[in-house]
Amino acid sequence: MVSLKVCSLGSINLDFTIQTHSLPTAGNTVGGGHFNTFPGGKGANVALATKKMGVDTTLLGAVGNDDFANEALVLLKKSGVDLSNLVIFDDVSTGIAFINVDESGENQIAVASGANANFFPEHIGAIDSDGIITQFEIPLETIFKAIKDYKGFVAINPSPVLDGLDKLLPYASVIIVNEGEYQAYAETLSSYTGLLAVTKGAEGAVLFKNKITVASIKPPQMKAIDTTGAGDCFAAALSISLMEGKSYEEALEFACAAGALVTQKVGTQPAMPSRPEIEKLSSTF
Ligand code: RIB
Repeated sequence: MVSLKVCSLGSINLDFTIQTHSLPTAGNTVGGGHFNTFPGGKGANVALATKKMGVDTTLLGAVGNDDFANEALVLLKKSGVDLSNLVIFDDVSTGIAFINVDESGENQIAVASGANANFFPEHIGAIDSDGIITQFEIPLETIFKAIKDYKGFVAINPSPVLDGLDKLLPYASVIIVNEGEYQAYAETLSSYTGLLAVTKGAEGAVLFKNKITVASIKPPQMKAIDTTGAGDCFAAALSISLMEGKSYEEALEFACAAGALVTQKVGTQPAMPSRPEIEKLSSTF
């Protein structure tokens, strides 16, 4: 295995998760729920995922100077993710996500960005790693600064959907979207000829290059318990597999297995699988 250094550039949240049998519709209340808090945030989730896959990982992001931060960082600290360059703000709260999960594992997420929204270009310096994996829960100008002169691998998961992806596309080694995001970014991506991964939930994922399918995986069906964080783990696994020089097919298999395993447990970071667990599942595809 090639020894890599990866930087996850993104958000850090504390997730407040309620599992109910169905998701609430507007103006309605669903009772009988089960509540937990979990460390989350797309950037933090990716950092824990790559670390658990055996990759030396740094997380660049921001938290508030509060108890939410202690809880949000607990698994990252325990796993040995490098947090030495995190920014801690005294005057803003750590990011918070309210997550509803139904009995099919489907979720709804509302985020109060807090410190993540205040993580600006001046908070980052030169990044010493083989790759950057990032998402859209921090200001896009911070991402632009990080990747514009960067020489390594750049994975962009433009989630949630925001304007501004077009400015970042020239620097991307791979763009990773789900089906909804693929539709939302249709116009922006119409001129993109680089590597593009589109995830399709339980239906697997497709990898395109130059708009042509180069790999397509449909994993065995597994009943989902909680799909939250599956996309983050998929992005982490696909990125490091490509960086390690795996074939498109192998990389997509590994990423689909990683994402599928996350759906088997409640919560985001507690559900992140280890490399041997991912390899065991992907060998059955
Ligand atoms: O992708 C899942 C993540 O989205 C959650 O952990 C939540 O914090 C939101 O950022």
